[in-house]
Amino acid sequence: DNLFKSRISLYRYKGFIFPGEIILSGILQELPKFQFRENDVIVASFPKSGTTWVQEIVYMLTHNLEKSDDSSEVLETRFPYLEYPYPGIKSIAKQKGQRHIKTHLPATILPPSFVSSGAKLIYITRNPKDTIVSYWHFVRLLSTVSFIGSFREFLQLFLSDKVPYGPFYDHLRTYFDLQKTQNVLIITYEDLKENPIQYYLQVPVTDSEAFDVAVATTFRSMSENKSVNYEHWKDIGFANKNEGKFLRKGVVGDWKNYFTPEMLKDFESWRIKNEPDEICKFKNNL
Ligand code: A3P
Repeated sequence: DNLFKSRISLYRYKGFIFPGEIILSGILQELPKFQFRENDVIVASFPKSGTTWVQEIVYMLTHNLEKSDDSSEVLETRFPYLEYPYPGIKSIAKQKGQRHIKTHLPATILPPSFVSSGAKLIYITRNPKDTIVSYWHFVRLLSTVSFIGSFREFLQLFLSDKVPYGPFYDHLRTYFDLQKTQNVLIITYEDLKENPIQYYLQVPVTDSEAFDVAVATTFRSMSENKSVNYEHWKDIGFANKNEGKFLRKGVVGDWKNYFTPEMLKDFESWRIKNEPDEICKFKNNL
């Protein structure tokens, strides 16, 4: 408890950890009633895997490649977070036209209507070592969490499956399972970074249009775009002003600047124990 400046509570629900605000607001109990629609596009992930990046790419691809800018509606209302109290599941249910929905839910907790809806879902995953580094910075940034522990302390929480939406590999495994029968595309942060346009092929765009999307969604462009960089969180009190930025570094392999050989050893024994078999497909990247 002394690792958090704010009072936070975590709950285990159906094998996964959730922050108190999601459990206590009753959203998880309401979720089973939520109706997905055929033309919904869902971006799902374990936190800090590149969700925001994929959301913005998807949004552009489904809006005539229109670029968002400082004056655009912010991403959290354009592309709401399903299980979060704000803007809320009820407002998503009322939305007309094509809906864009972000979720960190494991597939086993997704509203069951997903299966018959025909909605499309993209799951982005990332090397867990980089995810852990990004997550540590994020829990320091979020004012509702205000983590004050060291990186080593956060790593221990992560490896003992005590961070929201964990356990990491169980989360990924639920989407490997869902992919066997449903319209699910699993991509990695590392692949997207190496070749950002490879996935647009399912949308009819020309090479030069694909290039425009990639340029508009680079780390640099998104960092400077107020509608996607979450900097307004500092003004509304969601983020601590004295911490860094949501769009923090945007690189592959930053873990090397944080992991000591001893931490790496702990990580490796956790990985070997928990990694799903399907991961071999991603072995080069993860
Ligand atoms: P870092 O903390 O390593 O920089 P999520 O959106 O799932 O919360 O993930 C956030 C991570 O994705 C952060 O990682 C953030 O910087 C990175 N990110 C966001 N937009 C990006 C982009 N356009 N290109 C590369 N990385 C991006």
